[in-house]
Amino acid sequence: MKNKCVKSHLNFGVILVGDKDIDNVAANSSIHWFPGHMRVSQRLLKENLSRVDLIVELIDARAPRSSRNPFFKDITSGNKARVVVMSKGDLADRRFSEAWIKHIENTERVRALTVDCKNAKSVKNVIDVLKEVLSNFPKKRSLGRLMRAMIVGIPNVGKSTLINSLAKKSKARVENRPGVTRTAQWIHLDNGLDLLDTPGTLPSRFESPEVGLNLAYTGAIKDAVYDLEYVAMNLIEFLSANHSKQVKARFGVDFSEFARPIEKLEAFGRLRGMLLRGGEVDLNRAALSLLDEYRSGKLGRITLEIPRESKKLLGDHNL
Ligand code: G4P
Repeated sequence: MKNKCVKSHLNFGVILVGDKDIDNVAANSSIHWFPGHMRVSQRLLKENLSRVDLIVELIDARAPRSSRNPFFKDITSGNKARVVVMSKGDLADRRFSEAWIKHIENTERVRALTVDCKNAKSVKNVIDVLKEVLSNFPKKRSLGRLMRAMIVGIPNVGKSTLINSLAKKSKARVENRPGVTRTAQWIHLDNGLDLLDTPGTLPSRFESPEVGLNLAYTGAIKDAVYDLEYVAMNLIEFLSANHSKQVKARFGVDFSEFARPIEKLEAFGRLRGMLLRGGEVDLNRAALSLLDEYRSGKLGRITLEIPRESKKLLGDHNL
């Protein structure tokens, strides 16, 4: 179905939605964005739940609150063991990651850790933690059956990268098991663990505009579904308010000298020579470029949110 462009009432710029959802966008006070395939994916997760002993929930270390789909908490709150793995730990502020680990472990009574999915040593650490958690299941082990884990997470959080690294580390076999969904795949790790890969799903609506923005900054929502310039203007505001030193070090400019977000983005575009014919700044190119610099870590380790009880860690930040 062809998408239509509608103005949301939510200061989140233009949101592209399927025809059916247009009325909902206008009527609701939260961002309504839930492609049909995500509904199917959620059903698949539920169907496969009874087949696994352990849920590995992957979240983004730069936005540990925004990158959690509340649906995962709901489906995993039963008698399944759960481990929360914060991916992209190499792009997040270490102090804040430690605070998040403490917060999650204390409030949810589960193991939590960070990982750089592309780093072999860091991935080995995940295997060690999974082994440790699994060692608390002596009964099933003694019955001689392999332990089964399911990896869940929002899109782009690093599931494929982590699974590929885990598979390499343990010379895993990958198979499509009959009777199980075509989009979920079993991977046999050599430490007696079967891992089920699942498709990424986002929540049906975002709790607040900030959640939507954080997901856009980190690349969890495709660029095509929101107003790039609006998101980039919010990002440059956030960066100049909270990370002026890193911004100055990277660009040699203090964007807070410019009052309006659009002036900040224009200054960034001019700095990068992104000009249109008449000398105006190509805001779209500038927006893409800024988002790319943030996502790839060129601005340094920047975490977007921290646990409420850790405000004292903030110093001059105001997240
Ligand atoms: P998904 O299956 O959950 O959808 O995510 P996927 O593994 O495809 O990862 C999405 C992007 O995030 C990829 O970048 C991947 O390389 C990157 N990534 C995943 N985990 C980490 C991590 O721990 N640290 C860092 N720095 N990056 C991570 P991409 O640009 O889409 O592709 P490419 O760079 O691999 O070509």
